[in-house]
Amino acid sequence: MSDAVETVALRRHFGAFKAVDGVDLAVTRGEIFGFLGPNGAGKTTTVRVLTTLLGPTSGSARVAGYDVVSQGAAVRASIGVALQEAGLDGLATGRELLRLHGRLAGLSRGDAPRRAAELIELVGLAEAADRRVMTYSGGMKRRLDLAAALVHRPTVLFLDEPTTGLDPASRAIIWEQVRTLRSQDGVTVFLTTQYLEEADVLADRVAIIDRGVIVAEGSPAALKAKVGTDVIRLEVDGATAELCAAFTSVPGVTGAEAAEGGVVVHAADGGAALPAVLGILGGRGLAVGRASVSSPTLDDVFLAVTGRPAGHDDTDGAADVRAPAPHPAGGVRS
Ligand SMILES: Nc1ncnc2c1ncn2[C@@H]1O[C@H](COP(=O)(O)OP(=O)(O)OP(=O)(O)O)[C@@H](O)[C@H]1O
Ligand SMILES: [Mg+2]
Repeated sequence: MSDAVETVALRRHFGAFKAVDGVDLAVTRGEIFGFLGPNGAGKTTTVRVLTTLLGPTSGSARVAGYDVVSQGAAVRASIGVALQEAGLDGLATGRELLRLHGRLAGLSRGDAPRRAAELIELVGLAEAADRRVMTYSGGMKRRLDLAAALVHRPTVLFLDEPTTGLDPASRAIIWEQVRTLRSQDGVTVFLTTQYLEEADVLADRVAIIDRGVIVAEGSPAALKAKVGTDVIRLEVDGATAELCAAFTSVPGVTGAEAAEGGVVVHAADGGAALPAVLGILGGRGLAVGRASVSSPTLDDVFLAVTGRPAGHDDTDGAADVRAPAPHPAGGVRS
């Protein structure tokens, strides 16, 4: 079976400006694919081309097996789209809007309300369904967007920054619904986000786009493994060079150095190395104040591949690859 999304050397230029400049993507059916990048990277432009709202300048793209240029109608019948700038009519109720979407998608007079009711349940809007959309919170509107995109049971769902501006609880609700769609209905989800952490928790694979070009691609774990090792931080008095050397005898430990208030140990798998590392301290009668293990984040990946932190679009064009940022202290990540 063909991939859910496949692009080859896809370009979309606006005059001389290269918003999307040679993108190759392959998204497997049933995958949650995270499309990451800072403001202006080319995410929405790519989604607009994939959803047939915008023609490519050159290159090709197939969605659900259909060519976006020559088979646009078949593409549109296969996909659901929740765009970044949603155009919901505030005077209608959520239920009315979903019925209307159903009718527009070709559902019968009887089926459209049934599907609307199902979707209201699915996205958890039962209590608000008969209120005007203008009274909805941002999170409720995004859930209604999601429901509207699902009316005709698409096999490929495009969500453009579905959680931008939402509080953590509302984001978690959307994440849960995306996971359910994939696990229950096998829907392929192509999701853009600026939140590296969102791709990390949700996506099977991610591609990072920067200035119209893919700069990294892989599973979140593989990308993180590329930039570095886990870091174990230990609060301990009397961290000497000799002690640091002793840590390197632990399997998987790649280095250790004294740091303010203690010691920092680098290991391929911090959790696995931690007991032996603590054992060495215990064997020397050294008490540990606080211990933490942190893994590299997708922020570190972004910095490593673009030379600047995510969300900081410096315009000098510098693209030197720098070392990953130091990991935030204190937090325990798996
Ligand atoms: N119709 C257009 N005409 C000219 N330039 C455009 C047009 N649409 C987008 N662009 C430019 O293309 C670049 C990429 O825009 P795009 O909307 O794809 O970015 P994005 O990655 O979705 O960013 P954001 O995270 O802010 O939504 C931007 O510099 C934008 O100004
Ligand atoms: Mg966008």
